[in-house]
Amino acid sequence: MERYISILRVTCLATLSRLRKQLKQVSNQQEQFRKVTIQFFVNITQYYIKSSYAWTSLLDASLPGEINSASSENTLCFWATKILCTPDPQEKVKLTKEVQHWWDTGKITEIGECAPPAQPSRIDKLTVVQPGKIKRGKGGTQASRIALLHSLANIEQWAIDLSWDIIARFSSVQLSTGDSMPRQFFSDFVKVAGDEAKHYDLLEQRIKDLGSSFGSLPVHNGLWQSATETSHDLLSRLAIVHMVHEARGLDVHPQTLSRFAAQNDTDSVKILEIIYTDEITHVAAGLRWFTYICSKEERHCLTTFHDLVKLHFRGYLKPPFNTEGRKTAGMTEEWYVPLVKPAS
Ligand SMILES: [Fe+2]
Ligand SMILES: [Fe+2]
Repeated sequence: MERYISILRVTCLATLSRLRKQLKQVSNQQEQFRKVTIQFFVNITQYYIKSSYAWTSLLDASLPGEINSASSENTLCFWATKILCTPDPQEKVKLTKEVQHWWDTGKITEIGECAPPAQPSRIDKLTVVQPGKIKRGKGGTQASRIALLHSLANIEQWAIDLSWDIIARFSSVQLSTGDSMPRQFFSDFVKVAGDEAKHYDLLEQRIKDLGSSFGSLPVHNGLWQSATETSHDLLSRLAIVHMVHEARGLDVHPQTLSRFAAQNDTDSVKILEIIYTDEITHVAAGLRWFTYICSKEERHCLTTFHDLVKLHFRGYLKPPFNTEGRKTAGMTEEWYVPLVKPAS
């Protein structure tokens, strides 16, 4: 049975690779119908690939605990996809830490190729609402502080998935020069995934310490909307997720921190400071690989970034910016000030 599932998966992967190549060739407006049709088949193929992993997991319940060194599934992409398909956040964190360790110690060496699910799995009890419907408060009460921490934990859970998704989705991407992404690109995002898992863990524990639990409040999936919008193009993904959203995280940090500090919640303040320090390195990673691709493909970095943000991000970037934090990440004002709404 496992053999048939494997054959189905390999066939689907090959089909997906062909469909993606075709999708890349559809560039002009007149071919919109063709683009939609190909995208439809991409979605169906991805569904079958995702299902095949679920079937394999059912057949091999011991898979997460051990690596079989003889298995072709012993690749970074296999585990990235497996983590994306893991609904329980604690299990997601545990697997992320294990895979990071396996990658860092050379137990996993192959990057591999796979098709990640269109959207990561989530536990059934999570209430998902539209991004604008979440009420966080200003941290003046314990309930409001729990709501803020809950909202951050939700973002961190998406951030774990976004790190694995960039690895899995763009594992076999080819630059216009014909080059693949270097190994360090994957190592950087394994590190980011590990950081995000640590952040989720710290926040979830803090929510528990305050007498609540993750999942007790509604959450949104706004970050995944950006992932879907940029699933076709690595430069767009780096620009929107890592250089717009993660940089925005740096901007809001000082105010969030001051809300907890004002209530003498030093335990939460310590966690926020750890997160902030790591997040600067995530923006730096996004910027580093964005400029790497631009220089390889002989594109103008700033113009390309501004064009992609205008294309994939709704609205303008909102000040105030954390100029210092962004600068530490290597992001100077010329990157983001031109994307602010012009004074009328
Ligand atoms: Fe994070
Ligand atoms: Fe991050």
